[in-house]
Amino acid sequence: MNATVLACPGNEQFAGRIAEELGVSQLAVEFRQFPDGESYVRLLDDCAGVDVFVVCTLCDPDDKFVRLAYTSTLLRERGAGRVVLVAPYLGYMRQDRAFHDGEAVTAPMFAKLLSPLFAGLVTVDPHLHRIEHLEDVYEMPCVNVHAAPAIASWIADRVDRPLFVGPDVESKQWVSAVAAEIGAPYVALDKIRRGDRDVEVSVPQLEKYPDRTPVIVDDIISTARTMIETVHHLHDLGAPPPVCVGVHAVFAGDAFAALRGAGAAQVATTTTIAHEASVIDVAGMVSDGCRAILERT
Ligand code: R5P
Repeated sequence: MNATVLACPGNEQFAGRIAEELGVSQLAVEFRQFPDGESYVRLLDDCAGVDVFVVCTLCDPDDKFVRLAYTSTLLRERGAGRVVLVAPYLGYMRQDRAFHDGEAVTAPMFAKLLSPLFAGLVTVDPHLHRIEHLEDVYEMPCVNVHAAPAIASWIADRVDRPLFVGPDVESKQWVSAVAAEIGAPYVALDKIRRGDRDVEVSVPQLEKYPDRTPVIVDDIISTARTMIETVHHLHDLGAPPPVCVGVHAVFAGDAFAALRGAGAAQVATTTTIAHEASVIDVAGMVSDGCRAILERT
């Protein structure tokens, strides 16, 4: 493979795993900020004619976007082959409609900003809800890697007789996929979100599933209010402490501590965002996605 991997700041470990899995080198680059806060980017290796996987997970996307734009533009100016964005977590997918009059619908807007910069996109379980396919908004080939097999195998090794619980209807796609991998049952709840940190979820019906350990699965844990509400219901119903699994460990503010304090037996996420809870490795699957995107660009 005539390719290389470029790690944006904070993505060094994941980018290293991708390079290792693909059997390619990493492109040396210098990122820093001028004293006035502007970004400085310098390529330290030649990239002419070489496909470049730019690894940048897009939590806190506002901070990262400008640097990403400079990096992609510079790579193309220096004659790189295909410049592909590997964003294990793809931010800005949840504002996929205007919930209040006058709001910016930022999911398609962000897609429009990123699309001209890259030849393709590889990501893991983006929050596809009212947008059905990534390519409905991203104007480039996209590969959507599914973390369900990795999560299922992690749970199967650790939890005897799991009952998977999706905290809202949107989570049904993830929780049902994980449950199907190991032939376990699942229930999906209803959620009403009244504000960023104010959510209510329906009470799970557990009577049909005695002697099972609940495993709550959602795509994103941000404020963790969704998970915490669900943990409280399970506790009130006398269920054992649940294992809480998120695909993406966004963990805004003190969310991680709050979730552990709420009574979760364990909190685990995939490695799409570096965090002490990110223990389910998806780099191998993302590398397969990198190979697949080259077939399609
Ligand atoms: C929402 O639609 C997502 O699937 C998650 O349920 C949500 O992002 C979780 O957010 P929070 O952790 O802030 O409750």
